Amino acid sequence: MITERIKNQSPITSAWIKKYKEKLTTAEEAVKVIKSGDNIIVQPGCAAPFRVINAMVDRKEELYDVKIYHILIVGKLRYLEPGMEKHFRHIALFIGANARAAVNEGRADFVPIFLSESTLLFVKGNIKVDVALINVSPPDEHGFCSYGIDVGNIKTPAEKAKIVIAQVNNKMPRGLGNSFIHVNKIDYIVEHNEELTELPQIKEGISKEQLLVFDKLGQFCAELIEDGSTLQMGIGAIPDSVLKNLKTKKDLGVHTEMFSDGLLPLVEEGVITGEKKTLHPGKIIAGFTLGTKKAFDFIDNNPLLEFHPQEYVNDPFIIAQNKKMVAINAAIEVDLTGQVCSDSIGTDFFSGIGGQVDFIRGAARSEGGKPIITLPSTTKNDTITKIVPTLKPGAGVVTSRGDVHYVVTEFGVAQLYGKTIHERAKALISIAHPNFRDELTEYAKKNLGL
Ligand code: COA
Repeated sequence: MITERIKNQSPITSAWIKKYKEKLTTAEEAVKVIKSGDNIIVQPGCAAPFRVINAMVDRKEELYDVKIYHILIVGKLRYLEPGMEKHFRHIALFIGANARAAVNEGRADFVPIFLSESTLLFVKGNIKVDVALINVSPPDEHGFCSYGIDVGNIKTPAEKAKIVIAQVNNKMPRGLGNSFIHVNKIDYIVEHNEELTELPQIKEGISKEQLLVFDKLGQFCAELIEDGSTLQMGIGAIPDSVLKNLKTKKDLGVHTEMFSDGLLPLVEEGVITGEKKTLHPGKIIAGFTLGTKKAFDFIDNNPLLEFHPQEYVNDPFIIAQNKKMVAINAAIEVDLTGQVCSDSIGTDFFSGIGGQVDFIRGAARSEGGKPIITLPSTTKNDTITKIVPTLKPGAGVVTSRGDVHYVVTEFGVAQLYGKTIHERAKALISIAHPNFRDELTEYAKKNLGL
């Protein structure tokens, strides 16, 4: 595999190739270095090194209290199955769908943390890493392997790990940017070619009515986005609906924690050019990718894209250097004072803080920037309002009422920044679902003195 990209061998190339060959081993041999009580960091998202992970899990009878840190991983994680917790304990820095039950049943745990700081936990020594499990592209002629489609959450922690086990995988695209690790910094190399896991772009079972609601949300968000803006947005039906409504815009840029398929049509149609960006002009800046093979293929060796560690991409002071920065993030519920719950449904942990606050704050500080929270007005077939009098007991505030600016539902836009409690309540009631406006008004009159 090492000769794939190497045409001319100099003495320097021969030196790292020799080391590469010495480090070659099997997954089973490599994971023998893991001991009970170790802390493991795993490359997350769609980029997890499953061959190595599964070899580690196969050692379960010999291992106790191994802590596994990462943000969400797409795919089947055997260490999350009931009964595994005495061997492997997952500590989620953002809870994925496959980890939700384990966290809420106490078989796994969760660290609430801004994405801009999650990698710094490993730098500051809050979490010591014994072993990093990474999934990288084959080395280039200089001996550098790319972390590929997922750089942001792994490069910095892996640099702090005592031991690095790399799955060298020719299916991993060569993502550019601050995205490389040299062969000399890897301790064990497992050559194994394995397709990356894909995240379907549209949630299963989504109805036509829901799609219409998302389209309306998308239209209202699009009205707030001026030509020349730089965008951050998450994944799923809502961001996709926003993107679909941006086809007539000009010279948009992207600075986002997460890259995904939804951006591709706008690049292809010349809407995303990055030419007006005030930081990294002409480049899409991202930390990681959640998407399909189409997005992974686009990333390979593409100089339009630069991946960087999350503590850089998500740093609000870096984000703010992009003029006209527009951040679009979703929510579980918003109360009438503007508190935004995004990580839990009542006492049930659902996801995490992620980059929401990083980007809300960065966009708020950006010249001409717009922080947007967008959510359908209801869920569960219009039976539950998401604009609520008070958050559910146990709900976590991710974006505080001090940080909130624009809230968008399918009924319009409420601009809350600088507004009083009365003004906020009125604005939010006006974008709530009509079925719930009377009860929200009644509450506001009784409790907020409206
Ligand atoms: N009360 C009860 N249930 C609710 C609810 C509420 N207020 N809001 C949502 N739900 C339920 C939905 O009905 C749905 O249930 P289902 O899976 O049985 O259909 C489930 O919760 C998920 O809701 P959905 O609206 O589909 O969520 P989503 O996938 O669009 O994600 C967030 C929305 C807020 C959870 C997600 O954006 C998130 O985790 N954000 C936090 C971090 C962040 O913003 N990071 C930056 C971008 S990556």
